[in-house]
Amino acid sequence: MTDDPGREPYAEGKVPRHVAIIMDGNGRWARRRGLPRHAGHRQGMKAVREAVEGARLAGVEILTLFAFSTENWQRPAIEVSALMSLLKHYAEQEQKELRAKGVEVRVLGELDRIDGAARAAVDRIVQATAGGQHLRLNLMISYGGREELLRAFRDIAEKLAEGVLKLEDVNEECVESHLFTSGLPDPDLLIRTSGELRLSNFMLWQLAYTEIHTTAVLWPDFTRDDFAGAVREYQRRDRRFGRVNAG
Ligand code: FPP
Repeated sequence: MTDDPGREPYAEGKVPRHVAIIMDGNGRWARRRGLPRHAGHRQGMKAVREAVEGARLAGVEILTLFAFSTENWQRPAIEVSALMSLLKHYAEQEQKELRAKGVEVRVLGELDRIDGAARAAVDRIVQATAGGQHLRLNLMISYGGREELLRAFRDIAEKLAEGVLKLEDVNEECVESHLFTSGLPDPDLLIRTSGELRLSNFMLWQLAYTEIHTTAVLWPDFTRDDFAGAVREYQRRDRRFGRVNAG
């Protein structure tokens, strides 16, 4: 239990350092209300605020959100454009508050594919929040786990060919250092909303030993209390990392 009165009450136990979230169910949320899909994404942005607040209150160090996958580029142009303008909107609107709260934003993925205005807004929020000490927020955009690994393997192969790396240098640390998440601990907890039980090409390397929490809640309805519930469930898990006990 933490002494900070502003914080959520947690059971005794470790708070996960790094929480990753697959935010799913925006489309279904909208459909159930007879609304267009982009209305679900807009409401999903509010849930992003809830998740950030939940992570901050729990004392999580790193929050990683799957905001747009490489596969999402294949959605209808109108939806892609709605998601890009939402991203721009989020970056512009949240910048001040995130900075004030000590949240450092990073954007990870194949950023060259993001359109001019959204890219500029994203660059600004990254710059404005640099150095935030309370929470690191990774927005995974134009991100795919296999693509990330391929990119790492190509970089490593190039360095091998140039003689910058030797075969014996290629180990787990080497691969890890070529990922977008280089230098960060792997997620301790993965949350997936909307009841789906898939990884959907998300952080395939980093999730090897991550505890998974799924909830039927659709992403736009996700609250800081749902976040706290996931953390409490995590605290009851026995993490063994393939061994007999966590050690
Ligand atoms: C999955 O729901 C969600 C997405 C593809 C996009 C996630 C985006 C947001 C939460 C809003 C913006 C985020 C930021 C950081 C500004 P889905 O559309 O696949 O839902 P469905 O499976 O019900 O169709």
